[in-house]
Amino acid sequence: MSVSGKVSIRSARAEDRDAVARFSEHTWEWGDYIPMVWEYWLSEPKGKLLVVTVDREPVGIAHVVMVAPGEAWLEGLRVAPEYRRAGLATKLTQRCLAEATKLGVSVVRFATAATNEPVRRIAARLGFVRVASMLTRQAEAGPDGSAGFKHPTLPDMHYLVDFLRDSPVLAAMGGLCNTGWRFQRLTPQMLKDRVNQGMVLMLGRPDNISALAITGTGYPGGLLVSFADGQPEALRTLVRGLRAEAAGYEPPQVTVWLPEMETMQQLFVEAGFEPLMESPLWVYEVGAKA
Ligand SMILES: CC(C)(COP(=O)(O)OP(=O)(O)OC[C@H]1O[C@@H](n2cnc3c(N)ncnc32)[C@H](O)[C@@H]1OP(=O)(O)O)[C@@H](O)C(=O)NCCC(=O)NCCS
Repeated sequence: MSVSGKVSIRSARAEDRDAVARFSEHTWEWGDYIPMVWEYWLSEPKGKLLVVTVDREPVGIAHVVMVAPGEAWLEGLRVAPEYRRAGLATKLTQRCLAEATKLGVSVVRFATAATNEPVRRIAARLGFVRVASMLTRQAEAGPDGSAGFKHPTLPDMHYLVDFLRDSPVLAAMGGLCNTGWRFQRLTPQMLKDRVNQGMVLMLGRPDNISALAITGTGYPGGLLVSFADGQPEALRTLVRGLRAEAAGYEPPQVTVWLPEMETMQQLFVEAGFEPLMESPLWVYEVGAKA
């Protein structure tokens, strides 16, 4: 399909909100989260919210933001149903890549449901490669008591780095860690920050870690687990302990992101975690052009 009318892409303005809310009203059965993040995305530092217009009417959006030095994230790609299959999302994504280059990043990533055919095609056309396939699971707090987690401190960093370097789970996650729905490389700095925030939970001793979880907070609320790995028995204890840990959060729930590894999925299923999304989430990346 081709669009009749003048197509252009520009920065979003506050007054585009209503038009965008209208065309994204039925993006998914439950609606869309765009109206909730609109103001934030408009003003988020080191980000760009773009709008594609046809004869000056907004008919699509995309957001790109620098999430860490050298790393950008794409999100919120939407095109109004009556303007789909005309190449607009491809154009928006290309423009996001150009904006990412201006931000000075070297890598750009995004995530999409494995079932999202148009986005998979855009990824292929623009040279993105899939670096991880993730599933997310969630459980209410409880029912077991504390697992007796220890919180490693900065002097333990080198033990943590060694553990993570050898972790098949982190390798299957493409070396990435999430903050809500955004993923970035698990760098020593990010690890340091989580250690300082007391968000790294450990079983065993720093020089002999039997299981480790890197946690955080963010969407959808409660305790967020960005990474978990360890020896099988210790990992079982850790997974149950995460549910106990969630009792201290509001809402009292724990959401975990896991690579699509059968053994890991099984552990969380046994501990009462339910899938939050049926489809795996595929994370893609591409190098930004200098
Ligand atoms: C995903 C979305 C943004 C695509 O917008 P679009 O403007 O129609 O995309 P494009 O026209 O640039 O098409 C991209 C490719 O997908 C193909 N395509 C588009 N819609 C398709 C569909 N429903 N089924 C199969 N292929 C499709 C196009 O033919 C094109 O393929 P090609 O490059 O091999 O020719 C739009 O469908 C949308 O808003 N969907 C709902 C929200 C969503 O899923 N957002 C992405 C979240 S990660």
